[in-house]
Amino acid sequence: MTKTVRLGLLGLGTVGRGVYRIVDENRELIERRTGVRLEVTRAAVRDPDKDRGVAVPAGVLTDDPRQVVAAPDVDIVVELVGGSDAARSWVLEAVDAGKHVVTANKALLAEHGDEIRRRAAEAGVALGYEASVAGGVPVIKTLRESLAANRVLSVYGIVNGTCNYILTRMREDGSAFDAVLADAQAAGYAEADPSFDVDGVDSAHKLAILVNLAFGVPVAIDDVHTEGIAGVNPSDIEFGREFGYTLKLLAIAKAAAGPDGRLEVEARVHPTLVADDRPIAQVGGVYNAVQIVGDSVGDLMLYGRGAGERPTASAVLGDILDVARIADSDAAAAYDGGGAAPDGRIRPIAEVSSLYYIRFTVEDKPGVLSQISGILGRYDISIESVIQKGRDAGKTVPLVITTHRARERDMQDALVEIDRLPSVAEPGVLIRVEDDG
Ligand code: NAP
Ligand code: HSE
Repeated sequence: MTKTVRLGLLGLGTVGRGVYRIVDENRELIERRTGVRLEVTRAAVRDPDKDRGVAVPAGVLTDDPRQVVAAPDVDIVVELVGGSDAARSWVLEAVDAGKHVVTANKALLAEHGDEIRRRAAEAGVALGYEASVAGGVPVIKTLRESLAANRVLSVYGIVNGTCNYILTRMREDGSAFDAVLADAQAAGYAEADPSFDVDGVDSAHKLAILVNLAFGVPVAIDDVHTEGIAGVNPSDIEFGREFGYTLKLLAIAKAAAGPDGRLEVEARVHPTLVADDRPIAQVGGVYNAVQIVGDSVGDLMLYGRGAGERPTASAVLGDILDVARIADSDAAAAYDGGGAAPDGRIRPIAEVSSLYYIRFTVEDKPGVLSQISGILGRYDISIESVIQKGRDAGKTVPLVITTHRARERDMQDALVEIDRLPSVAEPGVLIRVEDDG
């Protein structure tokens, strides 16, 4: 028997338009496959007169999201506007009105996820957010359902298509950062404010969602150590290549035991050098990949398009159809799956240990390397390899060092001392190197 489910879309931009188109094009297929017939009964936009390339019937469009949220002919509110404050109000109003909610909005969930999850559970409605992490890649469903019986040890990946696209083009054809960012914006990959992408904030939002789901640990967005790619110097991509590494913006979460035995989770986003032969290094362009290690499943990797109209809309529709099928059951309130280990905590970055790549700009004169290596040695940091490029007596040259595993606090303290040396012309550039994955 067919069940008709009525959708109220908030937003008909890149993702909303994709949802509208897929519903329109695949309605019969979806109905045959799932027994659910989807109808878009309401849609809110900022400007109803804008040509958006989809033929929306008269009476469906409004410029007032509250009309959609309150409409009696809407079963699932699909939030595809973005931003966190107004979206929070609309989503909470929808929940309070007994409507299920599906959203692609990672900023909203990273900042207000606890409150929204709690209110949805209290109201007995489902909250779906598959599209909020890694676009079309079903990482949320994998963690929530397929790996529900695993203790997750790490989640690690490329979760921002825009940054991956930029870094890939910089490495492959030497493109300039600004030109590639403009291409990513034109393709609909970038956030409304692209600084969210390039400053690492979008990846941090996604990592916070993954940490909550995979480890159950409460996480505030400020707990996620975040560095973006805006300051990436092309020379580090090239030196990395000489060492056999590819530069990626990685979101990394790893479980560890704290000193008091409590679960601690590293949660960090930063440019990272990974060995060229690692699977994650091969993930190029707008593609995302998430590697998960579970205590039973071992390691697995999910790969696919992390942004763009159709891939993201595909994930939104996956949620809509799941929610449609459980809508009237007790399972709806537990659909979001997060928050299972409230006693855990996020490990501060100073306590994390890593391998490092450091590039110094130094005067080309005898004794400089021994000064630098002496400071690193005093902080218990062991050098793995060194390259110095060029020979320009009396002028500055790059000196690149890779290290064995060291503690972040020691590395930062050593860098401060090294930067004070008279023969060091510019602050050292530090990039972490990952050997997992
Ligand atoms: P977008 O293209 O900027 O579309 C936003 C939509 O929201 C537009 O239709 C806009 O109306 C509407 N809107 C904005 N303010 C509004 C208001 N006050 N009242 C009513 N409607 C309003 O954004 P998007 O790229 O589709 O992204 C939507 C969400 O999906 C964001 O949370 C984003 O982070 C997330 N997401 C995006 C992607 C992607 O690849 N783009 C991937 C994953 C997740 P107008 O059309 O009239 O301007
Ligand atoms: N701006 C995001 C990205 C969209 O580039 O990955 C997908 O969340």
